[in-house]
Amino acid sequence: MSVLELAGYRYIETPVFEDTELFTRGVGESTDIVQKEMFTFEDMGGRSLTLRPEGTAPVCRAYIEHGMHKRPQPVRLWYWGPFFRHEAPQAGRFRQFTQLGTEVLGSDDPAIDAEVIALLRDVLFDQSDVRELRLRISSLGTAETRREYAEELKGFLRKRADELPPDVQARIDANPLRAFDSADPGTQSVMTDAPTLLDRLDPEDAEHFAEVRALLDEGGIEYEVDPALVRGLDYYTRTVFEFTSDALGAQSGVGGGGRYDRLVEQLGGPPTPAIGWAAGVERILLAAGSAPDRERAGPVFIAVPKDERRRQAFRLWYELQGAVPVLMGEPGRSMKGQMKQADRAGARWTVIVEEDGFELKDMESGEQRPLTSADEVVRAFQQ
Ligand code: HAM
Repeated sequence: MSVLELAGYRYIETPVFEDTELFTRGVGESTDIVQKEMFTFEDMGGRSLTLRPEGTAPVCRAYIEHGMHKRPQPVRLWYWGPFFRHEAPQAGRFRQFTQLGTEVLGSDDPAIDAEVIALLRDVLFDQSDVRELRLRISSLGTAETRREYAEELKGFLRKRADELPPDVQARIDANPLRAFDSADPGTQSVMTDAPTLLDRLDPEDAEHFAEVRALLDEGGIEYEVDPALVRGLDYYTRTVFEFTSDALGAQSGVGGGGRYDRLVEQLGGPPTPAIGWAAGVERILLAAGSAPDRERAGPVFIAVPKDERRRQAFRLWYELQGAVPVLMGEPGRSMKGQMKQADRAGARWTVIVEEDGFELKDMESGEQRPLTSADEVVRAFQQ
């Protein structure tokens, strides 16, 4: 992802599985991810391993293990790869999905918060054309502020318990913040009166958040402050943010993240403030507008009507490959089948291999013109 490389981010690849403990400690025992979404198994040595459900804890582990705190700080990293969560599959939600992510370790400067948010916006909006994009931000303060606030919120919810459905009531003690997430109209109306964490921030955290907002304003990045923004992972402190697309259904989150100033230390490293995000690549694709020029940017398709023209077709394929995207049909398969295949591949041009030359077909207009040699075909794509 060149936008990230240009901004000084270096690629990091971590293993697809890690010790289970990294996630139970890192992501948090009370989270849905740890309680019910991990693919956990034992290896032959009896160790408990887990297919990574997210990338932040693994990157922190790598930062500690490879002594990256000795490098000039902050360390800017990006990653891309498969992640696994045992969730009920539905549109935009998969058990194996692809995340593009960044982590910046070693600075608590609000400018880094604004930087990563701006980069995610750039990836989603400028680079991918995600439609109906919205950015919500909030601050969760420190773990201590959160604990005190959670107690206050529990008290508030208990007082209003008779207005809440049983599932929300059941979660009051374990995770009162989840009440903000409830789809139940009664709960939603109760929550409009609830105290917010933003009003309870320490002065330094409030000042940090104000500076992040000022920087986003400076960059002309539009956002909504949403005091009810709850992220599904326990490690967050201070700034949290989420981009959603109304073009998606229920699974509207395309990318999100936040600060996790204590996580590296919790995992056994030196105190290291850090922030990052991850975006779901499948969701980006689902929410991306399809620009007309992109629709037909597919390969040049070589249709081979007869088996005996395989060699001629192969020679053409060999000459075109490397110069243009090219895909060869199955020699001898019906022309109808091959044209369908060309269409599915999004081919703008198809070259039909004839007995004594080629036909170049424009897949948009249907127009055809004869070309006598492979060289002529190659030249047609070099102009
Ligand atoms: P997350 O919000 O859990 O954050 O996931 C990030 C993105 O991954 C989501 O916005 C969504 O697009 C995509 N995603 C999550 N689960 C699925 C799924 N089952 N199917 C398809 N897409 C999915 C994290 O994972 C944090 N590690 C982000 C972060 C990095 N925070 C700090 N640094």
